[in-house]
Parts: sequence; C-alpha cells; structure tokens
Amino acid sequence: NVLPPKVDTKLGFQAIPVSTANEVKVPEGYTAEAFLPWGTPITGSYPEYRPDGSNTGAEQEQQVGMHHDGMHFYPIDVKSGGNSSEEGLLVMNHEYIDQSAIHTNGATSNADGSRPADEVRKEIAAHGVSVVHIRKDSAGKWDVVFGSRFNRRITGGTAMDIRGPLRGYGKLVTPYSLDATETRGTLNNCSMGPTPWGTYLTAEENWHGYFAFDTDKAARPREYVRHGVGGSSRYDWEKADSGLDQYRRFDVTPTPGGSAETDYRNEACTFGYMVEIDPFSPESKPQKRTSLGRFGHEGVIFAPVTEGQPVVCYSGDDSRFEYIYKFVSARPYYAASADGSLLDEGTLYVARFNDDGTGEWLSLSLKDETFAGKVAAAKGKEVGRSGIVFDGFDSQADVLLNTRLAADIAGATPMDRPEWGAVDPNNGDVYFTLTNNSKRTDAETDAANPIANNINGHIIRWTEADGNHAAMAFEWDIFVFAGEQGTETVVDGEAVVTLGDENIFNSPDGLWFDYNGRLWIQTDGYSNETFGNQMMLAADPATRDIRRFFVGPVGCEVTGVVTTPDTSNMFVNIQHPRANWPNASEDRPRDATVIVTRNDGGVIGA
Ligand code: FEO
Ligand code: CA
Ligand code: CA
Ligand code: CA
Repeated sequence: NVLPPKVDTKLGFQAIPVSTANEVKVPEGYTAEAFLPWGTPITGSYPEYRPDGSNTGAEQEQQVGMHHDGMHFYPIDVKSGGNSSEEGLLVMNHEYIDQSAIHTNGATSNADGSRPADEVRKEIAAHGVSVVHIRKDSAGKWDVVFGSRFNRRITGGTAMDIRGPLRGYGKLVTPYSLDATETRGTLNNCSMGPTPWGTYLTAEENWHGYFAFDTDKAARPREYVRHGVGGSSRYDWEKADSGLDQYRRFDVTPTPGGSAETDYRNEACTFGYMVEIDPFSPESKPQKRTSLGRFGHEGVIFAPVTEGQPVVCYSGDDSRFEYIYKFVSARPYYAASADGSLLDEGTLYVARFNDDGTGEWLSLSLKDETFAGKVAAAKGKEVGRSGIVFDGFDSQADVLLNTRLAADIAGATPMDRPEWGAVDPNNGDVYFTLTNNSKRTDAETDAANPIANNINGHIIRWTEADGNHAAMAFEWDIFVFAGEQGTETVVDGEAVVTLGDENIFNSPDGLWFDYNGRLWIQTDGYSNETFGNQMMLAADPATRDIRRFFVGPVGCEVTGVVTTPDTSNMFVNIQHPRANWPNASEDRPRDATVIVTRNDGGVIGA
C-alpha cells in the first residue's frame, strides 16, 4: 500500500447513465483523455506510429503493444520511500492482438500456407508488457520521458527464467533450454499484481490458444488436454516462412522419432505462470514464478504484508468452473530483504466455498496428508470434469504443472470464471469478480455460484479467520449480483442492493481498491440497449453504494485501473475498441490508456 488507508469511502460524484457513444464518458466535473495508444514509440529509435498499419516487426518492438489490460503506476521515487504523483513508471499488459488492425491489410499468408515472418514478428512484439517512464510537464500534461533507461518492451519473445519447483523439471525441457531453466516470452497477459517489494507480476491467461498440436499425429499429454491445447493455433505463428525455431516452437506436436531435446513438444508447459518483472531494473530478466501454479492466471493480488509473517497472494483461474487459489510463502517477509525469491518456496491452496457461508483452503502440497491421501485414492479414476484418467504425480513439480488437475482432486469449488481480486485496505476482506458462466446448469448451482446460466456474473468476498490471510478457513458472502434494473442482492431476507439506472452492469472483470478504500469495478461483457457500452463503476464496500463512473467507447472492454498515490490522476485501459477510437480520423481502432482527472484537482471518486 502506497498510502495508509483512510476510512472514508463515500462516493461523491453523480452517477452517469449508460451510453452507446463512441467516446469515453465520465461524470460532470471530470475530464478523460487518451494516452499511450497502441504504436506509441517508447524505446530504441522511437519509430513513429504509422496509421496505415505499415510499421515493421522491429518497430513494434520499440512501440507500445496492443490490447492494453492490467496496469500499475510505480512512483519514480518509491524505492527511496517517496510517492510521487508527478512522475513514475506506468507498467501495462498487452493481452492479445487484432490481426485485422495490426497490419495494413490484415493477416496474410503465402500460397503455400506459410505466413510472412515479419507479420509474425510484429504480432509477437505487440504482446507482452510495456514499461513506460511518464512525467507531467509544466502544463500538467503527462508525457513519455524520451530516452529514459526505464522504457522497455517485454514481448512474446523475450528470454525468461523458470523459477520455483518447476525449474529444471523434465517436462519443461526444450531445445532452447535443455536444463529446463529458461523459456522465451510471456503471452496473453491479462491482469497483474504489484508485489510488496515494488516489482510487477504479469499473468499468463489464455496462453493455450497460441500453440498448435496435430491430434492426428500424436496423443496429447494431460498437461495440454486440461487446458485445451490442441488443434490449430490462434495466429499461426508456427507457420512463419523464415522457419526459425523462435516461431516453429508454437507447434508442440511431437515429431516422429524426436524427443523433448529435439522438438518443442514441451513448449506449452513453459506457459501458464505468473511472471515477475522488475520495472526499476531495465536489464533484469523476467522470472516465471512456478510456485504460484500453472493455469489460466487472470492476475494476482497480494494481502498487506507484515514484518516476520509469510507473504500471501490470491489468484483466479478465469475459465468456466475453474478455481480461486492462494499462495502462502514458506519464508517470512522482511521489508529490508524481501524479493521475488519469497515466491519460490511455499504452499499453494485452492478454495472450497461451503454452502453455509464458511470456506476452507485446501492444500495442494504432497506433504499434506489429506491431499496426499486424495491423490492416492484418485489414481486410475477420472477426475474433475475433464475426463482425464489420473495416473499419478511424480513430484510436487508435477502437481504444480498440473495445478487444475490437483485442484480437481482436492475437491475445490468450481466457480463462475474467477477474474480479478482485490483486498480492502480498511479491513482486509478479499473480493473476487465471478464474471459469468453461461454453462452452469441448475443441478450445478451452489451457494457461492447460485445462478444457472449466469450471464451477468457476481462479486464474492470473504474474511479470513482471525483476519489472518494465511489462515486455513474463511467466511464468505456475495457482495453484489450484477444484472438489469431490479436485480437484488439479498442478505437475511432483505435486499441490500437493488440495481437501478445508476448502476446496472454485467460481467464484472477488473477490480481494484484505490488507496482510500473505494472499490472500482470494470466490465467485460455484452453490450445492448439496456447496458450500453462496457463501463467502470465505483463502490463503497461498507454501504454497497455502487455508481457508474465511466463508460468506454463502442465495442471495448474497460480493464486496468490505477491512480497516482494522491488519487488525483486515474489511469484506465480501453481494450479492443471496435470503431475508430481514440482518433476518429484514423481508419483503425487503437487500444489506449485513458487519464481521468477531476477539474478541481481533487480525489477521484470522492
Ligand atoms: Fe483476460 Fe479473464 O480476461
Ligand atoms: Ca479480464
Ligand atoms: Ca473478461
Ligand atoms: Ca478480456
């Protein structure tokens, strides 16, 4: 936490109506301005963005990527105890790309079905993370600090280390790293989590779709089946016509007579992690922290740290019927020495939400007798919903590589797509968005996921036993059900929230507590006349007063939110706008960050 929390979480702005306009809407007295659109030059020779899509792959490697998502603002002086609201590092994810917008004429392929290698290079470069050194000029306008040593692009091709229990594990061996200590790139970076020691963890969410696996040629390992790796790849990167191994690796089909040392059959086992980036060390290599498990990581949220106590963080797996996890470090936190190695040893737990409002954290450690017993009993049986017949774990590394399977065996509660989490700085309660789940049937409902065909989603929250984040038990309730006008959230027979024009929403996704304890809820759902475009609302966690604060342009989702420490400038990301935005005069849409300020310079939302 940058600032000590304050208790006043009241909302002081007038809610805005839904909107279908192709522009950002904010309340009266506020201003919103687009910043850092896709293609903004930030490093190297600062190649200018060309609006006809003709920037090369090498140029994209020096420009802001596409499909902005989770983001955090690091005050430039935070390492020396400062909290500048005038200058800092804005670090953001680029989740995926729009092939029709990124090239002059969309994605092309050659007569033989291969793809021009520079198109592939550009697409890989538009993924990953941007670190952008930004500063307010004398007129109060934010700008990129030209030539700053901190400006950096990390892409789908950047060299990374494997850390934690999967480092050196045989199932991560590739020709690129025969000792399974390295891999290249981070992909589908959705949300993130700032660590208590000032680094950035970026999540690998829908990484499975980047890999091709020809199921006619070989049977898929469970490590791929449980994640849906199989069939063709989303962008055909493996078909790049240069034939270089940096592209061929996206085909993970075993070759006849080959092995893990000679083909890229294991490449997709090096994705699905939380990846640590130190924005203040531009030369540092990103670190894949495998202790936090391998799944469709939406993001991670750290509990407040206490000297001498373990580090605790939470992570959702955003797929239908997947789970919410918690990691508790083995070593205690001490501010003076804390770093990412704290995340390399510890225990991963998965949540069970009981129907009576209690909950439990189920250990996924083979050293835990209960879990080890369930693993032994599951052998030879089909586990979970995947139809996989379980054939055992050879080590704790194997458990973590197959985190979803381990959670199936542990008996965790399948959730309605857990997205972002947030911890209330005032009381430590943990909130998670459950964005929607159109596949849940009546028979599959439970108290925590009580709606069949849950198209609108809800937000769940819990209190850890004795307020201790490392506790093994918790009590939960539902903070709010999303939906149309009249949607009620009922507690003890009383409607504590009834949604109306000022706060209807669907598909809560991004979630963030600001430094004063206001909860910001962002949406990534369906748009129609009732709901208008995707939006962001603010909530008072104590009263459940919820008001619409922001509506995005046509076709976008609103994702990623952070403020400067003084809460006077808010950064919000607009991902995949559909129509030409932010510049109506350019003929392609561009993801961008929006800076929201209050015209009187005051606290956003107050
Ligand atoms: Fe990237 Fe779960 O949304
Ligand atoms: Ca999301
Ligand atoms: Ca989403
Ligand atoms: Ca999304």
